[in-house]
Amino acid sequence: MKAVIHERYGAAEALKIGAVDRPDIGDNEVLIRVYASSVTTADWRIRAAAFPGYAWLPGRVMFGLFRPRHKVTGMEFAGRVVARGQGVTRFKGGDAVFGLAPRGAHAEYLAIREDAAVAAKPGALGYDEAATVPFGALSALVFLRDYAKVGPGQKVLINGASGGVGVFAVQLAKHFGAEVTAVASTGNLDLLRDLGADHVIDYTREDFTKSGKHWDLVFDTVGKTRFATVKRVLTAQGIYLPIEFGLREIAQALITERGRVKVGVSGDSQDDLDYLAGLLAQGTLRPVIDARFPLEQTADAHRRVESRHKRGGVVIVVGDEASGQPVPQ
Ligand SMILES: NC(=O)c1ccc[n+]([C@@H]2O[C@H](COP(=O)([O-])OP(=O)(O)OC[C@H]3O[C@@H](n4cnc5c(N)ncnc54)[C@H](OP(=O)(O)O)[C@@H]3O)[C@@H](O)[C@H]2O)c1
Repeated sequence: MKAVIHERYGAAEALKIGAVDRPDIGDNEVLIRVYASSVTTADWRIRAAAFPGYAWLPGRVMFGLFRPRHKVTGMEFAGRVVARGQGVTRFKGGDAVFGLAPRGAHAEYLAIREDAAVAAKPGALGYDEAATVPFGALSALVFLRDYAKVGPGQKVLINGASGGVGVFAVQLAKHFGAEVTAVASTGNLDLLRDLGADHVIDYTREDFTKSGKHWDLVFDTVGKTRFATVKRVLTAQGIYLPIEFGLREIAQALITERGRVKVGVSGDSQDDLDYLAGLLAQGTLRPVIDARFPLEQTADAHRRVESRHKRGGVVIVVGDEASGQPVPQ
């Protein structure tokens, strides 16, 4: 089968299109024909070994010390179940699904355990749309619900609100009842209003840390702030939640600013993906597509992601079924 392959860390040019064996499935796994995938910020970091700060060593240990552990790139996917192992009860052949694949998703087929982060794709969603959801939406959900415990009436500021995590953070914070201020550059402000933001700030014209306003939570999804300046705009019990963090933020969270600074890692739970699928089906959440690239141009998609100016998700089209309305069941 056709796949995007990386055998060494490096620039986007290090990615190759090649042929690899279609994966075998174990008793508790399903084989999925992938119609659409995406390139996430994590895919770029893994390809380039661009793990932020302290994460350089853990990143290399996790993803391969000297070369990438998994030959096939990518993690987000949407497609159809085409075969299942003997022990599989949750899915059957033909089911439309989406999820996060731990061993590569930029390929025509992938194998995944039925209890991993894979869920039924809401019928109204195209495969291309569904393929941009899991990484950003699971991150936004875990950070807002579990680390920040966002609830009704809270004033929440989301920095980097038009990115892969940000577009879902805006919508989920609204869903949890918060009053949301979303920060991005001029061209993205209408999108943020469309996603439900109560207030928008254009960071090219205004520094929110000098606004004189106060928030119960500042969630920085893009690594552009520091607690030293953000603390000026936090309420007395306010929390600073940087999704990108280094040793300084870890020390603040554990020692010097306990309770005021929180750090953490995202999740990949099936229950959470099911919950998000429900919100997508209701129309409470909607994906945002920045651009679509054919599988053969995955390197260009990586360059777009590396710019740090994508709006929502960057789709990789793997099959004809990827775009537009979903194929009838
Ligand atoms: N800790 C964890 O477990 C975890 C989990 C998931 C993700 N992450 C990390 O979280 C980060 C976010 O991922 P992502 O996919 O959401 O990023 P992304 O899509 O690359 O974010 C891009 C967005 O950030 C905005 N932006 C760029 N510069 C900005 C600035 N100076 N101020 C405010 N907004 C700015 C851009 O808007 P404009 O184009 O308008 O500038 C763009 O829409 C990544 O570094 C990822 O590695 C960590």
